[in-house]
Amino acid sequence: TLGKPEMHHRGWIDLNKNGVKDAYEDPALPTETRVADLLARMSREERVGQLLQKLMTDTSDKKDAALVTSGQLGSFLGVAPDANLRNRLQRLAVEETRLGIPLIFGFDTIHGFRTTYPIPLGLSCSWDTTLVERLTAMAARESTVVGVDWTFAPMVDIARDPRWGRIAEGNGEDPYLGGLIAAASVRGFQGNDYGRPDRVVACLKHYVGYGAAEGGRDYNTTEIGLPTLRNIYLPPFRAGVEAGAGTLMAAFNSLNGVPASGNRFTLDQVLRREWGFGGFVVGDWESVGELVHHGYAADKAEAGVLSLTAGVDMEMVSECYRELPAMIDQKKIDSAVIDEAVRRILRVKFKKGLFDQPYTAPVEVDVAAHRALAREAVAASCVLLKNEGAVLPLGTRSIAIIGPFAEEQAELLGCWHALGNAKDVVSLHAGLKAAVKKGKFRVARGCPIIEPASAKEIDAAVKQAKKADVVILALGEPALWAGENNHRLDLGLPGAQQQLFDRIVATGKPVVTVLFAGRPLAIPAVLEKSAAVLMAWHPGIEAGHGVADVLTGKVAPTARLTTSFPRSVGQVPVHYNHLHTSRPFSDYKDGTREALLPFGFGLTYTTFTYGPTRFSRDTLAMGGAITISTTLTNTGKAAGTETAQLYLHDVACLQGARPVRELKGFQRVTLAPGESREVSFTLRADELGSWSPDGKWVVEPGRFEATIAPNAASGEMAAFALQP
Ligand code: NOJ
Repeated sequence: TLGKPEMHHRGWIDLNKNGVKDAYEDPALPTETRVADLLARMSREERVGQLLQKLMTDTSDKKDAALVTSGQLGSFLGVAPDANLRNRLQRLAVEETRLGIPLIFGFDTIHGFRTTYPIPLGLSCSWDTTLVERLTAMAARESTVVGVDWTFAPMVDIARDPRWGRIAEGNGEDPYLGGLIAAASVRGFQGNDYGRPDRVVACLKHYVGYGAAEGGRDYNTTEIGLPTLRNIYLPPFRAGVEAGAGTLMAAFNSLNGVPASGNRFTLDQVLRREWGFGGFVVGDWESVGELVHHGYAADKAEAGVLSLTAGVDMEMVSECYRELPAMIDQKKIDSAVIDEAVRRILRVKFKKGLFDQPYTAPVEVDVAAHRALAREAVAASCVLLKNEGAVLPLGTRSIAIIGPFAEEQAELLGCWHALGNAKDVVSLHAGLKAAVKKGKFRVARGCPIIEPASAKEIDAAVKQAKKADVVILALGEPALWAGENNHRLDLGLPGAQQQLFDRIVATGKPVVTVLFAGRPLAIPAVLEKSAAVLMAWHPGIEAGHGVADVLTGKVAPTARLTTSFPRSVGQVPVHYNHLHTSRPFSDYKDGTREALLPFGFGLTYTTFTYGPTRFSRDTLAMGGAITISTTLTNTGKAAGTETAQLYLHDVACLQGARPVRELKGFQRVTLAPGESREVSFTLRADELGSWSPDGKWVVEPGRFEATIAPNAASGEMAAFALQP
């Protein structure tokens, strides 16, 4: 079903100079030798050409062919679905240019290619890095079928503001968990060697601070102090770099007044010098040209100089880098800066194997296995937020499925769904019908997703609800109310959905609300009045099956929130890892500052209790370690899996106060009813530090507190000391 691209054999090497290979053409030579040999042969224009990326469109083989054959283009983005066009363009680069330098083709494979799985924010709630790795490997494999060499993923931006639509694309608010997921995604996309035909080069994005957009408005200015930048926003990128990500994307936002795509501090100082990143950096779409919009560069030529000098090696779409030869002549930039960027890009092209296998290689896709994995991911991403009177798991009763998402397909794909196809999506109704074979279903939409409702349609839904034993109310927001440029002012249910909810609740029937959204919603009334609430995010093509697996108890829920849910939009940004204030008693006149649901929260079909947090010692020395443990008991009637979370607090820190809590570890523990188990974590003294503003990891002796708890808002802190 993925389409069969035209295959080409290699052999182009022999076309060159009667079979005599130049050093760079010899796969047996080390990459560095090949890069150096090739660079030495390249003209100035060919070097600059490698730094440019354009959008591939239906007309590219006519429009862009001349650029390719004259060696003035290094890359295209937007490959899918046309492998033939991709290969035709590649053939121009490889066979009709002087040096035969292949293009690299990038694409946004974000949460699946054809087999769309849950949006990243949803998947992050699995807290399951193995699952993330399996899924990203699957997405890589499918992408390569049409010749994608490189994906613009994972997005590892920390987000604390659910108004920002791109919260959907990241892994939530925690830098530790975010780092683990970033690394797992890089491993999944790239494998051990992204040169393999079924792997793609990963791209960590958007570097950096993009998620801190003021007002939650996408692309907006960010102001992030160094302690927060170092300890919150940078760590997931660092984790991705350490996992070997081949590339990184510089962001649109300006950071403390300097555009991220021209920011020498973050791109050169931190990324290259401190972390030793060896891959290449691509700017985001026109982000280089936008240095002018930011009021940073005077014109395109200056923007190009500033971005390249800062460390943006490849320019996406805006073409300021075309001015670079003139800038060299005017001594505004040294040609060595260009050469370094070219080297970085060529290195990745060599490692991807593009010189040796420039065309799409045959890769098999097991569609059924991929769908099964996507289904597993849906169930693993659904967070059970409430379950009063054990209304879930569902029995085989008379069930009304109501709401605009009851039979919806397209919107369940979520933002950035690549080649995900609405026709492949299993709706909630279809999934439940397949799962509860003897169930009796009444279905009514009740109202559209965002448009106003008709009284008649709501009345019809109420009528169906009254005839059922239990109502599944499927509510939420459309796919493109989240993702890029899709910020929201209000975090409630769109359109007439709250009205529909109130009318259905008034029937007195138990209501199980299933929410489909790309962000945390501020829904205190829904939480209060529903018997059960399941957060299903935008789950992708296996939506109905995976959600039904959880609703019926075939799979007990295990997912945990990776972002706090606000009560009201007025609370945002709301996140668990905030600092203490001098006056903790201060609160809103018309409400509380406490989140509606904390980070780490999630229920399942049994209950657990935690004993007191214990330490293996009261004090530890530098270089030592401490074991922190508790007794976990399954106090319910079903087997279940708990995610025990270790939180730490550094009580007094001179280099800068530390958050009230920081996640330091977690373990998933499966227990039979009545079973107890010791859960323990070992922390080394050197794990108790934080990043100083100038990028040093500093461990300060003193008092620390820790707890093992089911979420960020519970658990008693106990203290130990770190000695000098
Ligand atoms: C702009 C987005 O910000 C980025 O995430 C994406 O990868 C590029 N466009 C390419 O589509």
